Amino acid sequence: MYLGLDVGTSGVKAVLEDEAGALVASASRPLSLSHPQPLWSEQNPDHWVEATLGAVDDLAVSHPRETAAVRGIGLSGQMHGATLLGRDGRPLRPAILWNDGRSQEECAELERRCPELHAIAGNLAMPGFTAPKLVWVAKHEPKIFAEVAKVLLPKAYVRYRLSGEMVEDMSDAAGTLWLDVGARRWSETLLAATGLAISHMPRLVEGNQPAALLSAELAQRWGMGANVVIAGGAGDNAASAIGLGAINPGDAFLSLGTSGVLFRVTDRFAPAPESAVHAFCHALGGLWHQMGVMLSAAASLSWLARILETPEAVLLAPLGASVERPSTVQFLPYLDGERTPHNDAHAAGAFVGLRSAASRGDLVQAVLEGVAFAARDMLAALGRSAQPITELDLVGGGSRSVLWAQIMADVLGVAVHRVEEGEVGAAIGASRLGRLAATGAAPTDVCRKPQRLQSFAPRVAQRAAYDDAYAHWRKLYPALKE
Ligand code: XUL
Repeated sequence: MYLGLDVGTSGVKAVLEDEAGALVASASRPLSLSHPQPLWSEQNPDHWVEATLGAVDDLAVSHPRETAAVRGIGLSGQMHGATLLGRDGRPLRPAILWNDGRSQEECAELERRCPELHAIAGNLAMPGFTAPKLVWVAKHEPKIFAEVAKVLLPKAYVRYRLSGEMVEDMSDAAGTLWLDVGARRWSETLLAATGLAISHMPRLVEGNQPAALLSAELAQRWGMGANVVIAGGAGDNAASAIGLGAINPGDAFLSLGTSGVLFRVTDRFAPAPESAVHAFCHALGGLWHQMGVMLSAAASLSWLARILETPEAVLLAPLGASVERPSTVQFLPYLDGERTPHNDAHAAGAFVGLRSAASRGDLVQAVLEGVAFAARDMLAALGRSAQPITELDLVGGGSRSVLWAQIMADVLGVAVHRVEEGEVGAAIGASRLGRLAATGAAPTDVCRKPQRLQSFAPRVAQRAAYDDAYAHWRKLYPALKE
């Protein structure tokens, strides 16, 4: 039995997978975000640990035999979050998360200090990444910066608390801007530009390699045996790829989680920083990936549901399974700024085209379409740098909606597939990495593609109407920017 743990932004998911790769059980615990100032986004690292232990406790109660039989654990996590630890291994401040936009100025500073940054890290300096957050801490909280002994990413902090070992995998490490992404090792040059050294970094392994052993105390708490292996694991997007069997160059998918991610596997380090495309390591040695990232995808719909005090399902139900024409209202989903393609932490959300006849349904549809138009921007950004994407599997919480899937197909002009277990893809990817690390099995035997539940082809009439609507929508960001 294998345990997958996905330390997300809105919650921790835990899944149990059996020896045949079937999902046996899942549990989840919620997490909340704190925004102490505009553009800030933080979480208490100890809440990740409590939620993780709580989710596994739930599995140990609902499935005691299966939980006790776990021999490999994999971790997936929200990427980039700066978790600063002092010499005693305790967090020095709340973690600064991937969707925190406070360090835009520090990005420019970092690019000035280190002209080789694009070539080594393969990415633009963007406020979401880890290095600029440390430049911000050095400038605004120098006492804390002076005490930093290690910087971990969220799932590495959870691993540390599960095992006592500080270890990171390549896919997540690539999102720090301290990794030489082509060579898959920490870069002294990049670290020095942030005032850090290799000693501040955890040890590196590939995602499918053993990283640590579960502590004896936790093994006992869950009835597990000795020597439960914890794998390197992966950043949540690379973990989703493993869950989807996206391990061959050209495989692509779209994740509609809190963030929205268009992900493509590459057989080489393929940077394209000019369009704010991310170029990172995959969770398996010898593979890399590119992604476009938008910061508020399913988060845009959750925001609307929250302010209307109405559950998402109730908002979506009146729209049915498909819409015949674009909404008369348009929405910019930049609630937390944007990365691909604009790289603008100050970009803001907007509803445009409101009239007194506009209904709640028009606004809900506008949100789904605004996220789809932003995904089309990402498709264009990725399209420029390599082979075209002709079909996409859909994962993440947003993949529950058939309406959103059809809108995506109509707006993107490619076939979109809903897949089995698409909502827990990252946790399944994590458990598969746990299995690979514990057994040494071949990735091609374990990382199978899931069953496709439903496929959505672009519809001709709607595609033309969405082309026009997208052309109009594209003008909104530059017009509103000032
Ligand atoms: C990727 C990114 C997000 C987070 C969400 O670069 O910032 O997708 O990983 O958890």
